[in-house]
Amino acid sequence: MATPRPQHRKTTELLRRKGSLRLASATKTAETSLAGSSASEGLVDTTTLSTNWMVKTQQLISYDVISKEGLFDVDNRDLIAVGAPRPSTRLRKRPTKLRRFVVVDEVVDGIYGERIREYFGAHHVETHILSIHVSEATKTMKSVLAVVDGIDAFGISRRHEPIIAIGGGVLLDIVGVGASLYRRSTPYIRVPTTLMGIVDAGIGAKTGVNYSAHKNRLGNYCPPKVVFLDRTFLATLEPRELCNGFAEILKIALVKDARLFDLLEEHGDRLIEERLQVSQAAEEVLRRSIHGMLEELQPNLWEAQLERLVDFGHTFSPTLEMRALPSLLHGEAVTIDMALSTALSLVRGLVSEVEANRILATMRTLRLPTDHELCSPELMWEALEDTVEHRDGLQRIPLPAGIGAVTFVNDVQRAELSAAAAVLDDLAVR
Ligand SMILES: NC(=O)c1ccc[n+]([C@@H]2O[C@H](COP(=O)([O-])OP(=O)(O)OC[C@H]3O[C@@H](n4cnc5c(N)ncnc54)[C@H](O)[C@@H]3O)[C@@H](O)[C@H]2O)c1
Ligand SMILES: [Zn+2]
Repeated sequence: MATPRPQHRKTTELLRRKGSLRLASATKTAETSLAGSSASEGLVDTTTLSTNWMVKTQQLISYDVISKEGLFDVDNRDLIAVGAPRPSTRLRKRPTKLRRFVVVDEVVDGIYGERIREYFGAHHVETHILSIHVSEATKTMKSVLAVVDGIDAFGISRRHEPIIAIGGGVLLDIVGVGASLYRRSTPYIRVPTTLMGIVDAGIGAKTGVNYSAHKNRLGNYCPPKVVFLDRTFLATLEPRELCNGFAEILKIALVKDARLFDLLEEHGDRLIEERLQVSQAAEEVLRRSIHGMLEELQPNLWEAQLERLVDFGHTFSPTLEMRALPSLLHGEAVTIDMALSTALSLVRGLVSEVEANRILATMRTLRLPTDHELCSPELMWEALEDTVEHRDGLQRIPLPAGIGAVTFVNDVQRAELSAAAAVLDDLAVR
């Protein structure tokens, strides 16, 4: 007789608690054969008359973040190796060939579309490429539904044919929402093509679209199956978009990585000029910022812990970004928030004047704004109130404590915010 293979099976146990029952259920790998299941499994107690249950379950989440230059070189199978052909069914005896539904940012399609089509053609993949126009203003459910309509028309096996999303943070967020909703969740692969996507939007679990003038008001946590990071896409990015991505790198530097800050301070100008393609510094900057980001996300993927280092720069910026649309990019709004937070730190003596000036100067080196005409103390207070709601009733504002560390505060007052805005004006003119 063949040795039984490890089986994935659900185990449930019924625990008696004071006056109620708790049903604990977990998926685990067992080495036993199915025939050998023990008598204690399943629902064993049918005698207790109770009307309360607790369902508890666990699911292991894992996804790969893979750096791969030349992802669409025809001899590279990495992208299509994720997933599998549809399996055979009683009606369809042989597995069908590979099929993929691909959503691509219209601008990226204009530059790389031919290469992408050649790639799938060379691997005989039946493909539908949906090219969509995206912007922060159209990061809406309407765009999500356009993606879902496309998937429905093409038809995919939700187990074997992951959706492929190629584009910047906006495209990835839209497809993420669509994939999470389609048939209650369909696997998808992210291929970020902007710096913001590579260091931030592409590598976490969050999806989201804007709703009712609020940033990312609709969305969920739905990690991709795999993320492929190909930095050669950055060669065609508009300089302003590149700098936009540097904002999130600077964020990681300021909250936890002084060495990364030094690299940005020293090489920022050159890194922009060479679009992070050539130097060792470019490699180190990307590696440190992606690693730092994942280090923060991995233990807190569902954000159970609301004091998040990566929320630095994201206290005042969501409201500012939405009010200023389309004049501020996400990273630009984040930088203005980081500048204001730095000024708050200076007011509180958490950073020295020298440190505050270094931070502001590095923002300028990275060609990022530190102020905006809409950025009044009144609007910032309104933004803070909205964020307090988001952070379960507390401000939880990450403020720089020197360079490479933060502290969380909960007691910023209106007057202090106005004082910080005045200090920022002062710092910005130096
Ligand atoms: N889900 C998350 O965790 C998360 C994290 C950070 C940011 N975001 C979201 O990401 C969005 C910002 O993303 P973004 O900065 O990538 O903006 P974006 O997606 O709008 O892309 C910026 C511009 O670059 C173009 N583009 C993309 N790739 C290109 C390439 N290789 N060459 C030339 N042009 C290219 C796009 O068409 C667009 O015009 C925001 O909506 C933000 O909320 C999400
Ligand atoms: Zn951000």
